[in-house]
Amino acid sequence: MQAQIVLLPGDGIGPEVVAQGERILVAVAQKFGHSFQFTTCPIGGCAIDQFGDPLPEQTLVACKASQAVLLGAVGGPKWDDPNAKTRPEVGLLKIRKELGLFANLRPISVSPHLISASPLKTEIVQGTDILFFRELTGGIYFGQSGKETTADGESAYNTMIYSTHEVERIVRLAGQAARGRRKKVTSVDKANVLEVSRLWRRTFERVMKAEFPDVQIENVLVDAMAMHLISRPRSFDVVVTENLFGDILTDEGSMLPGSMGMLPSASIGSSGPGLYEPIHGSAPDIAGKGIANPLATILAAAMLLRHSLKLEAEAALIERAVDAVLAKGHRTADLAAGGPSIGTVEMGTLVLAELA
Ligand code: NAD
Ligand code: IPM
Ligand code: MN
Repeated sequence: MQAQIVLLPGDGIGPEVVAQGERILVAVAQKFGHSFQFTTCPIGGCAIDQFGDPLPEQTLVACKASQAVLLGAVGGPKWDDPNAKTRPEVGLLKIRKELGLFANLRPISVSPHLISASPLKTEIVQGTDILFFRELTGGIYFGQSGKETTADGESAYNTMIYSTHEVERIVRLAGQAARGRRKKVTSVDKANVLEVSRLWRRTFERVMKAEFPDVQIENVLVDAMAMHLISRPRSFDVVVTENLFGDILTDEGSMLPGSMGMLPSASIGSSGPGLYEPIHGSAPDIAGKGIANPLATILAAAMLLRHSLKLEAEAALIERAVDAVLAKGHRTADLAAGGPSIGTVEMGTLVLAELA
């Protein structure tokens, strides 16, 4: 197979972890006789520095012409000035919107080899296997916003807005995914307070009952979900929720396997290239030290092969290689709990060795 893959390393640890993802993709291509062409483009803070724009036109054009995009992370203290003209994060939101990537899949599973890395008790986390569907191009991230100076200071607002169409399409993807898993979908909302959540819940129930009668459904309020996620993680199969709730709950969920450095994600739309990235950010506190965990990005590369290139065997091989490295006890600092640890490149090298 031939494929054009765009790499968007971004800021902070982004370039460090994407370099490892690229090594893995190159090795897989070699092993299976595929030809992947890589193009690296700027996004985020580094693109602001170079072009004054967090998503330069040439980056967007390259992504649209590709089969898939692998992204590191954007942002950092350098670009955090609240009065700045633009921000790195604007580039990320824009590329998601421009590519129509309304569904962000965030799998959270706990490898038996990582149980001790979790701050939670073994009997709670072992066997956890959740697939989050985070809505990605709507909600409060994209609703009307504004700020104004008033007589007694300043005010600012953001609007959370969803249409039935936006809810229906992500619920359908969640329902389909559940059919290939344990046949349960939990929808998370704040329907006891928010009008937009009542629309979300009505739509969820209608679509699921009409189109997925074989799938069990559950509604959970987002505040309670923050608790249930760490008290009964094993009871969840597929979880579907709006943009902001999904953002927050999956960072919380990263503590089930024990580190943000372990969670990959796939952003997909109804057609066109998908975007694959770790769920973590640019980690300014460890950037440049060579100690970031590259496994989330490597697992995102596996999702890229599975979802955009339909290379299931190749994807599964990467996932098995990662598990084998963990089984042998190798840990980056985020997973090592103060014990011996290895660096970013070394971890990449060990996964490569398992692939071979
Ligand atoms: P963060 O995810 O960057 O870091 C949170 C904590 O997790 C830090 O202590 C960090 O060191 C650790 N961590 C994250 N990834 C790790 C890895 N691979 N290996 C080891 N440790 C890891 O969140 P933050 O500090 O709140 O945000 C920093 C910047 O990143 C902000 O500018 C934010 O906007 C941006 N951000 C970008 C993305 C993205 O590009 N998709 C996602 C989240 C945050
Ligand atoms: C993520 C990040 C982004 C989000 C930010 C950086 C815009 O937190 O990908 O989870 O909120 O979606
Ligand atoms: Mn986030």
